[in-house]
Amino acid sequence: MSTAALKQDINPGLQTSLMAFVTDEVTHAVLTRTALERAWANAEILAGGVEEAMGTLTGIETPQLLLVDLSGTGDMVGAVERLAAVCDAGTRFIALGDHNDINLYRRLLDLGVQEYLVKPVSPETLRAAVEKPIEQPEDKTPVPSGLGQIITVIGTCGGAGASSVAVNTAWILAREKDKRIALVDLDLYFGTAALFLDLESGRGFREALENPERIDALFIERAMVRESENLYVLSGEEALENAFSFDPQALDRLFDYLRRDFDMVVVDLPRFAARSQIASFHEPFTAFLVSPPTLSGMRDSMRLSELIRAQAPHADMKMLLNKAGERKTGELSKADFERNSELSIDRVLPFDLKTVTKSNANGTAWAEAEKKGKAVVPLRGLIDGLCRDEDEAAPPSIWQRVLKKRA
Ligand SMILES: Nc1ncnc2c1ncn2[C@@H]1O[C@H](COP(=O)(O)OP(=O)(O)O)[C@@H](O)[C@H]1O
Ligand SMILES: [Mg+2]
Repeated sequence: MSTAALKQDINPGLQTSLMAFVTDEVTHAVLTRTALERAWANAEILAGGVEEAMGTLTGIETPQLLLVDLSGTGDMVGAVERLAAVCDAGTRFIALGDHNDINLYRRLLDLGVQEYLVKPVSPETLRAAVEKPIEQPEDKTPVPSGLGQIITVIGTCGGAGASSVAVNTAWILAREKDKRIALVDLDLYFGTAALFLDLESGRGFREALENPERIDALFIERAMVRESENLYVLSGEEALENAFSFDPQALDRLFDYLRRDFDMVVVDLPRFAARSQIASFHEPFTAFLVSPPTLSGMRDSMRLSELIRAQAPHADMKMLLNKAGERKTGELSKADFERNSELSIDRVLPFDLKTVTKSNANGTAWAEAEKKGKAVVPLRGLIDGLCRDEDEAAPPSIWQRVLKKRA
């Protein structure tokens, strides 16, 4: 369809809630179905890419949500800048594209693009991305810069120390860095986050994951257990005979609420859940991978980092080797681990029996038991880096600057 024909189809006085320019039939069909099912009155799903979008958007009131397929565009960054120049203030922009490139992803987000999805995009991912902004209109959604940052912690094998790292990261952030922290343990059967802090799990987490409509500020307040002024824990201890399945939208909703209320959300994410859940973290987050310095740990670090890169390319991955020096033989050195896996290790945490024994005996976090413990110091160093990144104010994006000028 030509740009002129497209323009005639659109009522210039009516603000469209969604306008999409897509180049393939599958994406077109998924968006059309979503718009029909959700009964969005003002959805325009059009054939085309950047040029069609430029032609159509010039001179009409831009939609609240704009989706453009940038596949085949040589200069995607330039294309987004041009699009920003013809959009109204407040337009949210989702880009589709054919380049799976973390640097490109970051540059697009820096420009203010809400989401960059690499094709082929699954219908679920596309729908989740599109539905999010429409169902949470501007006035209810906090500005992204005000939302809490997510840190997920994944172990490469049982006993790697993932829960220890999650708990102690949360504790250091809350008690030493004065951040308001939610610690979420997604292993509802065997989770140990609460246990490590000598707390009993609260009630209601499973029910909420099964019925996402129950998740609201009041629920969260009730289900969380307070460790101290700044640290709250959300966990469960489900009976092993109870099977349950959680609604995929529940986690989205849960993290939306938590990020409004907390500076940071630390998630103890079991490996089995990482497989299916990692893609549900749509926005940039930090992913800690915790591995022992062993051959099997290295193999699974490689597999998990590949999974994260593929499913959550916007994750900032930090690789931690834990329990270094525990075994007399059979351990890989940091250099061997890095050379063979082609992963770079951000921190090595030594095996630290003294700190862990004291922390277990007192039911306290590592850093409380042994402020300068061998494993505590490098973990604190990693966290210092994260807080520095967080505190550096991000400059306004070009997209926002262009929009501001036009507002
Ligand atoms: N650096 C360390 N030094 C000594 N013991 C550790 C260290 N890290 C973890 N541990 C201990 O190893 C065990 C397994 O740790 P945990 O955090 O539960 O691992 P995961 O959650 O990966 O299964 C726990 O008893 C914990 O106290
Ligand atoms: Mg664990």
